[in-house]
Amino acid sequence: MAEEHPLRPFYTVLVLAFGCSLLVASAAIGLRPQQDANRLLDQKRNILRAAGVYEAGIPVDEQFGAVQTRLVDLQSGAYVADEKIDPNSYDQQAALLSPELSRELSSEENIAGLRGLENYAKIYLFSDQDRIDKVVLPVRGKGLWSTMYAYVALDSDLSTIEGISFYEHGETPGLGGEIENPRWQAGWQGKKLFGPDGEMELSVVKGGAQVSEEQQPYSVDGLSGATLTTQGVDNLMRFWFGEHGYEPFIARIKQEGGFNG
Ligand SMILES: Cc1cc2nc3c(=O)[nH]c(=O)nc-3n(C[C@H](O)[C@H](O)[C@H](O)COP(=O)(O)O)c2cc1C
Repeated sequence: MAEEHPLRPFYTVLVLAFGCSLLVASAAIGLRPQQDANRLLDQKRNILRAAGVYEAGIPVDEQFGAVQTRLVDLQSGAYVADEKIDPNSYDQQAALLSPELSRELSSEENIAGLRGLENYAKIYLFSDQDRIDKVVLPVRGKGLWSTMYAYVALDSDLSTIEGISFYEHGETPGLGGEIENPRWQAGWQGKKLFGPDGEMELSVVKGGAQVSEEQQPYSVDGLSGATLTTQGVDNLMRFWFGEHGYEPFIARIKQEGGFNG
């Protein structure tokens, strides 16, 4: 019987490994369009959830049909013309990689621990009988372990929170991961972002339920056992509803007499 070449097992493993990696790589590439479509669908579902209008069992695209997507220039607060950038194909995450479409934040500005700030944010307008009655705004910021992503739905007064939906994060399940808990998220409904003088007043703190009656509308109870995640949520709200976030947009809409002014 011919003697086996001493390197034969090595070559066999090599060919096998190459074959397997080719299989995994082609599966990953082949499934990417499906993964992207699912991600988009999940985003829409969370936007609908934040707005409190999601209905299980009805196709998400059908429910999202009437939602108007716009781009907002965060610095000026003005809408970006759809002809300049198509809001439906604009990728806010990808914009962060482009120096023309984003900027770095100084350490004083960067209270939410962001890697950078895009120039344009995608927002979602909900209408009832041709009148805009809700807007959903994407927000994000650093928690204890991860960047936490959420959508915040505001009433057309641009201060009252209709809902919030945290949809992506890497916080610990049962601790910081409770930001996903619908019961905790329900505690945000009806809270107000801005005080009578127009200043951002909302705070997310442990013991937020025990604050004075006057502060109740501006206070969300934090998560017990997750002070650091809670602090991250408070920071991201202060950032996104402050001067580098949506404040210029909100001021502009209010100046125009509201969405339907
Ligand atoms: C394994 C492990 C995971 C943790 N995950 C979180 C977390 O996701 N968010 C958080 O705020 N704290 C987390 N903590 C707890 C923090 O280290 C810290 O103790 C906590 O934020 C204090 O909150 P408390 O003052 O409400 O107890 C974790 C701790 C351990 C040991």
